[in-house]
Amino acid sequence: MNISEPIIALKNITKIYESDQGKFTALSGVNLEIYKGEIYGIIGMSGAGKSTLVRCINYLERPTEGQVLFDGKSLATLSDGQLRLARQSMSMIFQQFNLLMQRTALQNVCFPMEIAGIKKREAKKRAKELLELVGLGDKLDAYPSQLSGGQKQRIAIARALATNPKVLLCDEATSALDPSTTQAILALLKEINEKLGITIVIITHEMKVVEQICTHVAIIAESKIAEVGTVKEVFTHPKSKVGEKLVYPNGIPDEKLIGKRCCRIVFDGTSAYDPAIASMILECQVPVNIMYADMKRVGDKALGQMVIQLPENEQLANKVIQNLKDRQLVVEEVYDYVG
Ligand SMILES: Nc1ncnc2c1ncn2[C@@H]1O[C@H](COP(=O)(O)OP(=O)(O)OP(=O)(O)O)[C@@H](O)[C@H]1O
Ligand SMILES: [Mg+2]
Repeated sequence: MNISEPIIALKNITKIYESDQGKFTALSGVNLEIYKGEIYGIIGMSGAGKSTLVRCINYLERPTEGQVLFDGKSLATLSDGQLRLARQSMSMIFQQFNLLMQRTALQNVCFPMEIAGIKKREAKKRAKELLELVGLGDKLDAYPSQLSGGQKQRIAIARALATNPKVLLCDEATSALDPSTTQAILALLKEINEKLGITIVIITHEMKVVEQICTHVAIIAESKIAEVGTVKEVFTHPKSKVGEKLVYPNGIPDEKLIGKRCCRIVFDGTSAYDPAIASMILECQVPVNIMYADMKRVGDKALGQMVIQLPENEQLANKVIQNLKDRQLVVEEVYDYVG
């Protein structure tokens, strides 16, 4: 594969569902390129067409028009056998885990390898390694009903990795989980991306999920792609109306509100992966100016300090300070800061 070639490319994809009620266009003229090693978020409201899109990527759903290229090859040109192999390279995990309830964790992970014709002993060995990798080395013989939602999703992830995929497709994989379990599963996905070099596609309706681990994002609305870009680009300069709405659900902040009150934030070892400032901006819906920053990353810790200018509105300024304090950061007010 040419290194500059996307691992997944959607070319002008349209998907029309036909039912007794008539035709429904779930996707219209969708173009998308996902490159190896990316963690690509696809975000949109309910009914926007996200699941349809991800099901078109692995041809669980055949597009009505357009082409899906995987590793440079059009899925439409593959034989059934080749398509099966391509699908093994694009594993999927779901909101509801989809585990086999009558099978243990180990047997669930062995399942796709049995189908792929891998010898039992070899499958068992690999399944054990994968369950270790996802942190369930002590639950090999547990049944799904004996496990928590987060643990079930870990089994599903191990099972998805069993066939050595190049891509992991995640359709609302954390939507049924509480916030701290969500964080843990997202951290595991990031680890898998980094350790195994697997490209990850994350379908979600939550900006927080995109913010936490994605490198790139596509915003989908009413069956069309509204905007694509790096997460940083889209977060700082959303171009589409729907992008603005996702980044600033309470309306675009007024730049004029920026005042002279400043506060100093001391990072004393909080995880560098926790995007504290970005999360605060999203939650408080206020712009802040970073006046000064001297940050170091030591291992996975952030050390250093930052001075930000607070909004003039006192209530908003207090909200910002409280929000930062709630993140266990050391925050102190400074007046008329001169950089
Ligand atoms: N098999 C189908 N037949 C007819 N219409 C369908 C079918 N599957 C999905 N749709 C319609 O297509 C639209 C997009 O559905 P899709 O499941 O892709 O949305 P989604 O963005 O994943 O939503 P959610 O966030 O609720 O999961 C919806 O209006 C849905 O009703
Ligand atoms: Mg869906």
